[in-house]
Amino acid sequence: MRDFKGKIVFVTGGASGAGLGQAKVFGREGMKVAIADVRADALENAKKELIAFGIPEKDILPLKVDLTNRAEYTAAADKVEEVFGGPPHLLIQTAGVNSFGPVEASTFDDFDWVMGVCLNHVVNGLLIFVPRMIKAYAHKTEFWVATTSSMGAFMAGSGTGPYSASKAAVNNLMYSYAEALKPYGAGATVLCPGNINSNIGNAEKFRPANLRNTGYHVSEGTMAHLRSIHATGIDPVELGEILKEGIENGRILVLPDHTPELRAQQLRGLNETIEDYTLTGAERAAKAAKRAEEMQKMFAEMAKAAKERGDDAPPPTMGWAVPEGAEPFGMARDDLDWIDSSKKLQK
Ligand code: NAI
Repeated sequence: MRDFKGKIVFVTGGASGAGLGQAKVFGREGMKVAIADVRADALENAKKELIAFGIPEKDILPLKVDLTNRAEYTAAADKVEEVFGGPPHLLIQTAGVNSFGPVEASTFDDFDWVMGVCLNHVVNGLLIFVPRMIKAYAHKTEFWVATTSSMGAFMAGSGTGPYSASKAAVNNLMYSYAEALKPYGAGATVLCPGNINSNIGNAEKFRPANLRNTGYHVSEGTMAHLRSIHATGIDPVELGEILKEGIENGRILVLPDHTPELRAQQLRGLNETIEDYTLTGAERAAKAAKRAEEMQKMFAEMAKAAKERGDDAPPPTMGWAVPEGAEPFGMARDDLDWIDSSKKLQK
C-alpha cells in the first residue's frame, strides 16, 4: 500500500506511545485518523497532540472503547463508517499491555488481561473490519492490515508467559492474513519492536478492576523500573515511519532496531536453536556453547567500537541494564508460599 492520502486509518491504542506515533505519521500523510483507546483522558490529550502535529481537527476521530469488548468494538467500527464514510483502508492494531512475573505464579486474571488486550483485541478487529474492508475496497483501491507485536513473539522467558504467548500468536495470525488477503489485492504487516519510548510501564495502573488478582509482585517501584527501561526505547514517530516504510514495501514482518546486526545474530541463534533439536543432545550443547561464545565476541566488538567512537553508553547485552537500586520486576507475589524463594522479593 503506497497511496494513503484522503484514506482512513484506524489505530488501536492510538492515545499513547506507539499507536499515537502511528496516528501522527499516517495523519501527516493526509489520512483521516480514528484512534481507539480505553482511556478517555489520554484520548483527549492525544487529539490535542495530533492537532499540534498539524493534523486537521476534522480528520481526527477519538473513540473511547474497550477493544476486548466485541460489542463496543463493533460500535466503534460503525462510528468510523458513519463519520468518515467507510471502513478503514488501513487497520493498525497496536493497543497492548504487559505484566511480568514467574509464569507458574500467573492467575487467570493475568492471562485474561494480557491475552485479552494483546491477542483477543487483534482477533476482534480483524473479524469486525476485514469483511467490511474487503466488501468496500477489494480490487477498487489499496487497503492493508497491520499489528504491533513485539520481539517477545520470538522468545519466551519464564517471566513473560502470557505476553510472549500472545505476541507469538499475533505473529502467526498476521502471517495467515498476509497470505489470505493477497487475492483481494491487500496484505498484512506485523511490526516487532524491541523497546519503545512509551507509557507501557504504567500499564498496571490501568488494569481493569475485575482483573486485578495478579500472581505477580507489582508496585510503584516495579513500574518506575519499567518506565526507566522504556525511556531508552525508540521514538514512537520514528517507529511509525518504519512501519509506513514496511507497509509501502509490502513487508510482512518489520523488525525495527538500532542494532540490526545484533538482532540478526540473535534471530539466527533462535532459529538454529529450534533446528538443533533434530541433533543429539551432545551436538546440540556444543553448538549452543559456540553460539554463546560468538555472541559474547560480538558484544565485546560492539563495546570496543563504541569506546573508539567516544560513545560512553554501556556495552550492549541481550538483557536490560538494571538501574542501580531499582526494584526488580518479574517476581512473584510475596504471599505465594509455594513459589521458589529465588522468584520472590521476600526470600
Ligand atoms: P502504551 O501504554 O503507551 O500504549 C498502549 C495503549 O493501549 C494505551 O493507551 C492503553 O490505554 C491502550 N489499551 C490498553 N488496553 C486497552 C483496551 N482494552 N482497549 C483499548 N485500549 C487499550 O504502550 P506502547 O508501548 O505504545 O504499546 C503499544 C504496543 O507496542 C503494545 O502492543 C505493546 O505490546 C507493543 N510493544 C511495546 C514495546 C515497548 O517497549 N513499549 C516493545 C514491543 C512491543
